[in-house]
Order: sequence, then C-alpha cells, then structure tokens
Amino acid sequence: MLKEEVILTFNNILFTLKKMKCILGAFGYFEVTHDITKYCKADIFSSIGKQTPVAVRFSTVGGESGSADTVRDPRGFAIKFYTEDGVWDLVGNNTPIFFIRDPILFPSFIHTQKRNPVTHLKDANMFWDFLTLRPESLHQVMILFSDRGIPDGYRHMNGYGSHTFKMVNSCDNAVYVKFHFKTDQGIKNLDVKRARDLAADDPDYSNRDLFNAIANGNHPTWTLYIQVMTFEEAAANKFNPFDITKVWSHADYPLIPVGKLVLNRNPTNYFADIEQIAFSPAHMVPGIEPSPDKLLQGRLFSYSDTHRHRLGANYLQLPVNCPYRSKVTNYQRDGPQAYDNQGSAPNYYPNSFSGPEQQPAYRMSSFDVSGAVAKYDLSNDDNYTQAGLLYRNVLPKDEQNRLVENIVDNLKHAADFLQEKAIYHFTQIDDGLGKELREHLKLAKCSKANL
Ligand code: HEM
Repeated sequence: MLKEEVILTFNNILFTLKKMKCILGAFGYFEVTHDITKYCKADIFSSIGKQTPVAVRFSTVGGESGSADTVRDPRGFAIKFYTEDGVWDLVGNNTPIFFIRDPILFPSFIHTQKRNPVTHLKDANMFWDFLTLRPESLHQVMILFSDRGIPDGYRHMNGYGSHTFKMVNSCDNAVYVKFHFKTDQGIKNLDVKRARDLAADDPDYSNRDLFNAIANGNHPTWTLYIQVMTFEEAAANKFNPFDITKVWSHADYPLIPVGKLVLNRNPTNYFADIEQIAFSPAHMVPGIEPSPDKLLQGRLFSYSDTHRHRLGANYLQLPVNCPYRSKVTNYQRDGPQAYDNQGSAPNYYPNSFSGPEQQPAYRMSSFDVSGAVAKYDLSNDDNYTQAGLLYRNVLPKDEQNRLVENIVDNLKHAADFLQEKAIYHFTQIDDGLGKELREHLKLAKCSKANL
C-alpha cells in the first residue's frame, strides 16, 4: 500500500470506542497475609487473616465478543473488592506497563488495535503507524510480542495495577505504590502454533479453562505484592515514577507481600454477574488514592461515561456493582431502574433535615503542587532505555529469537516505510535487535517472493 493510501485510510477512522471482548469472570475473596497498616489505612488491609469478597473479569482487547481467546493481545485483569468502606476497583492488565502515557491518545490508540473502518479488517498499517509515531509504546510492544503475549488461559498469568497509586495510613502519611498479583499456578504461555490451532478448534479455550478449574474445586490464586516509593524518593528519581510506560526496578523497590486473591465461585448467570459488571479506576476507598500519573488521571473520568451508556444511569445499584457491604447515601435520585431511591430523604444540599454529610474519613490526603499548568508534549521521555534492558537482561536468547520472529510475522504486513521506521526505533532500543529484525524481514520477503 502506498503512503498516500495509508493516510487516506487513517482519515476515515471513526472516533468511537468499541467495546472490548468481555470474556469471563469469577468470584472469590482476598485474604491479608502480611501487615501493611504502616502504609495503608484501607479497611481491606486492616488485619492479618481478614477476607474481603471480590469479583474479577478477564478480557482481551482487540477482538469482539465471541472472537478467539488465544490471540496475541494484552489481557484485562479487573478486580472489584467489596470492602466495608465501599467498592475498590483495580482495573489492570497482565502487563506492568502500558502503550501510552498521554490519555488524550487513548481513543486513537484503541482504534489502531481494532478494525479499519473502511475495510473492517485488522490493519497492520494502522497498528505500526501509530506505534512508530509514538515510540513510548515499544516497551509494551516488546512484551506483547514476547512469549507473555499469548498466556495459556487466565490462571497462568500475572495481574498488575500498572499505574502508580497512593497509599495513605491512619496518620495521613502517604507513599506511592504499584500493585502486582503474581500467579501461584506459575506463568505458562502458548506457543504460536498451538495458539493458532486452539483459535480454530477451541476458540473459548481460556474461558472454558477458568470455568472448569473453579467448577472442579481447583481454585486459582494469586499473591499480591506492592512496591513502595516515598515522596522524597519520587522527587529525586532519575525517571518519572508516574510514567506508566516504565517499570520500577525491583532491586530499588522490592516486592512486599500483602495477601492472596482466591477465585472459588463461578457466575450463576453470565449476563447478571459478568456482562453487567462495571469496573472503574475512580472507585477507590479511604487509604487508596490516585497518584499524579497522567494516564490514570484521564482514566478516572472515562469509565463511568461508558457505564452510563452501556448499562444505564443507575448501574451502580445493580447487585454485582453495588457496594453491598456499606451504606450509600447521596443526593442523586430517579432515572431508569432506580432500585434504591433513598425513600423520603432530602435530595438537595445543604439541608436542615439530617441529609448525608461528607465523611471526614473519605476526604483525600493533600499534596503540594507547583509549576505551570499547560498541555505538555509527553512524547520524549526516554522511550528506549527500559525496553533495551528488557531485551538484553530479562529475555533469554531463545525468547529473544521468538520475539524477533513474532514481530516480523506481524510487521511484514505493514507498508515498507513503516517497516523502516519500526527498525529505526527497535535499533534505538538495541542495535542487535534492529539488525535481527532487518535480516528476518528480508528473509520473510524472499520466502513470500518465492511462493
Ligand atoms: C487513558 C487511558 C485509558 C482509557 C481512557 C480507558 C478507557 C476504557 C474504557 C472506556 C473501557 C470500557 C469500560 C466498560 O465498558 O466497562 C475500558 C476497559 C478496560 N480497560 Fe481501559 N482505558 C485506559 C487505559 C487502560 C489501562 C492503562 C489499563 C490497564 C492498566 C486498562 C485496563 C482496562 C480493562 C482491564 C478494561 C476492561 C475492564 C472490564 O472487564 O470491565 N485501561 N477502558
């Protein structure tokens, strides 16, 4: 395809957010095994042995409902904790980082992962055009094309909060944290051939695996760890600790064990329990707060709009979404399916009739800010160093080779000028990686020409 044609195609992209492929969820509990009350006052972490009910939904991103489970795609790992202080949602993925750091880019980014609105086909040009114009994405792209890009079902992958969050203790002292849920089943991935076979023979593979495991009493579990960074460490850090395209070094910020997530109950009705569930990064409880991470700040606004559109105005009253372990009182009334309309209580504030007041315990901690408020260009913040460390220091040689094969298998479908741009960026990440990609792309083209 010519460059002009690519641009024409891009101009036709509709600005709609298409729904992710929602797959399966399950219920269970979170149990505290280690005391972290010195960092966090949240009810859920208040004592060792404390159990809090949870709901979890796993998903893929690029496909539609009914598409194959075993595709190369990030997996959603969204957890709803029904705490005594209300609902806390941790809406994460199976990767510790993300493609972009600027929330304004999210609709465009997600369009490039979906179908081309002209052809209704997945489009390697859209995909690689966006990624090579925003090279901060390539760290996550390397994980996507590594073995972890096709997990063997949902039980054998980790979950991550990915963003930096804030924990606040009972003295109102705050630290920054990252959340890691490590699978106790061990990491297992599917090789490319098996994943393709399963896509044809058993497209609901991951769904079936999770449902059957739970039904057979083989309950999957994950161990929760946190990484902790003080405000002083954050201020002195050599990289931006609020940049979701980067990890925090485990050597500098070691994993601290917290507890166990257990899934032990399947849904009794898919639509009521799973389809209607609504997760939002804005659902937080006292002791857990957002950090200045710009992508997280953008997400805080986005999800509830989708929920009102997808489920209707009173979706938070649905059994699977309501904070059933605490009492909600507010000044909102009416709308379709208003199930709990709060009786005769006043619907305005302030009032002289004992209406609800803001609870001091729910007030967020304060923090200092300085500097100019403006729209900044976030594209140039060291896009290559950590991706290079991942390639050289984390991936063993055989996985490096598979990474190259997997990238080539996709990149070969993109226009020549996009292949060149991709090689340029991968060379900035690692010279050797750039060379390998160039060589393998050449071989892929030769074998195509010889067909
Ligand atoms: C500015 C960036 C982002 C925006 C605007 C955004 C927006 C959205 C929206 C609108 C949905 C559909 C929600 C629904 O219908 O219930 C969604 C789903 C989802 N997002 Fe994001 N997202 C962003 C970044 C991220 C990141 C960084 C992660 C992971 C760390 C993530 C994880 C998920 C997951 C797991 C789901 C599916 C949750 C479920 O099962 O209901 N998103 N996102």
